[in-house]
Amino acid sequence: MSVIWSNSLRHLNGRRAGEGTTSLRGIRCRNMTMARQREPRTMPVGVRWVLRTAILALAFAGAAARAEDKFASRGSVQAKLSFCKDCHGTSAQGYAGFFPIPRLAGQQTEYLENQLRAFNEHRRANNIMSGIANTLSPAMISALAAKLRELNPPPVGGAPRRLMAEGKRIFDDGVPEANVAACAACHGPDAPGVREIPRLAGQLFPYVVKELTNWGKERGQNVAKPDTSFIMSPIAHSLTKPQIEAVAAYVSYLK
Ligand code: HEC
Ligand code: HEC
Repeated sequence: MSVIWSNSLRHLNGRRAGEGTTSLRGIRCRNMTMARQREPRTMPVGVRWVLRTAILALAFAGAAARAEDKFASRGSVQAKLSFCKDCHGTSAQGYAGFFPIPRLAGQQTEYLENQLRAFNEHRRANNIMSGIANTLSPAMISALAAKLRELNPPPVGGAPRRLMAEGKRIFDDGVPEANVAACAACHGPDAPGVREIPRLAGQLFPYVVKELTNWGKERGQNVAKPDTSFIMSPIAHSLTKPQIEAVAAYVSYLK
């Protein structure tokens, strides 16, 4: 168990989240150089002036965004957090409505930040969260992740308790005959998670069922940007529906 645990950590160490992805700032810089290169030598003065002004405007926009990056004021973080709680619950405990909205409380900051970037970069498919993630600056993402990490409401519950024993067995021992490693090997005993590996303790039953059922359709969707989601793919694909429900029920009651 500890071998897989440390191997996966080593793997994550070798591939830090966001590695190989271009920052907004990078894109801006590259566009600016391209604009400069495209400017022909024989260009009329007026056109050249317009281009220069456009390039300067881009440079200023970049500087403004950088200032905003470094500074997410306490008031703006609180306002954004209460917006998140409108959907994710007053203590970010999650909400099992028409579609399940996951628990964010107590989540690993690295995982949370990586997923928000994943929605933004369309590595992870979800229209609601992609629209929200691309309004958040990197500084705001870090501030929100830190705040959410501090919350610890009790699990919302509601999963069928009769599945608990089977769920615990899968969580602790995996499914050897289907080559599925123990969930505890990566998510940790009692599922606190670590860094880019999420906490599963207290996560909503219908949400975990949905993620494990739809893994290949929702996660790792940007071929140009492979990410940590591939670690879970074989596991999600190898579990049967009853096994998914059992393990989802088990983790939903962990604190
Ligand atoms: C309009 C409702 C709504 C709002 C507002 C909202 N979310 Fe979400 N969020 C969702 C839904 C729905 C999902 C589940 C997406 C899925 O099924 O993949 C989700 C998923 C997430 C996830 C993935 C969690 C996981 O366990 O992988 C993160 C992280 C997240 N939201 C963060 C935030 C933050 C931070 C805010 C506030 C800035 C926020 N959300 C605001 C609806 C919302
Ligand atoms: C080899 C390590 C490893 C093992 C074993 C493993 N996981 Fe994961 N799991 C991960 C990683 C890494 C992620 C984050 C994937 C991403 O970034 O999209 C993850 C994500 C998840 C998620 C998504 C959570 C969310 O909030 O969206 C669920 C659910 C999950 N795992 C359940 C399980 C279950 C159940 C098992 C056991 C049957 C298991 N995992 C075994 C590494 C592992």
